[in-house]
Amino acid sequence: METFVAATPEEASMRAAAAVLDALERAASSGRDPVLGLATGSSPLGLYAELGHAVADGRADFTHTHGAALDEYVGLPSGHPAGYRHVLMREACDVIGLPPERLAVPRGDVVGLAALDAAATAYETRLRELGGVDVQVLGIGANGHLGFNEPGSALRSRTRVKRLAARTRRDNARFFGAPQDVPTHCITQGLGTILDARRLVLVAVGDAKADAVAAALEGPLTASVPASVLQWHPDAVICLDEAAASGLRNRQYYDDAAAGLPGGD
Ligand code: F6R
Repeated sequence: METFVAATPEEASMRAAAAVLDALERAASSGRDPVLGLATGSSPLGLYAELGHAVADGRADFTHTHGAALDEYVGLPSGHPAGYRHVLMREACDVIGLPPERLAVPRGDVVGLAALDAAATAYETRLRELGGVDVQVLGIGANGHLGFNEPGSALRSRTRVKRLAARTRRDNARFFGAPQDVPTHCITQGLGTILDARRLVLVAVGDAKADAVAAALEGPLTASVPASVLQWHPDAVICLDEAAASGLRNRQYYDDAAAGLPGGD
């Protein structure tokens, strides 16, 4: 892992954007259309804004990039403003100029468990057809979740239907009219699916994330902290601000990385 502790959330987003652009350039130079894995939530908004600036400056162009969502709610009608296809179009694709028809999202709007299982399997197939995800953007839940892989998720899990934790539903109630309107289930890339991405870029800012970040980066690799699988990935870039990093014991090593010196594992 390369862990950067930035003075401000804006700086953390700039670091993350640089890591994303670098991975996409590497993919494009091998002659493929790059695949960018997109997360929803507040954590990556600054990163998407930075990528938008790179497009405006002529340093990036996403018209030949494929987008792939990390997860989607189950049971929202297509076009629902809180549905993740809609959210990603608004908060990521529109900002960076990624064509909407190039965005892949699991189908959470089909009815019945068999159809949802089939939608999850179809999403795995789609990711394989695209050649795999070159760089996956991630946030972390205050309970350590990654995507919607809540504590207790299998470390090698694939895209599947999951029940949302009560805390996650509470955290996300702000996007719905009332807490009871938050869906109870989702389709999420599994931890094994996420680990297949060639690079992972996680952004975490604010002290509400400090405990989860410390457990994920410095605690044991455990299903109780799904984001601890980051420790297992060969190219994980972690971009934090001071507040999100405040629970880390090994801060001095990460500061070296932020100064541009060789990072450790
Ligand atoms: C988003 C996702 C979640 C969020 C996490 C953090 O697609 O799957 O894992 O990344 O809940 O959310 P924010 O960034 O809103 O704190």
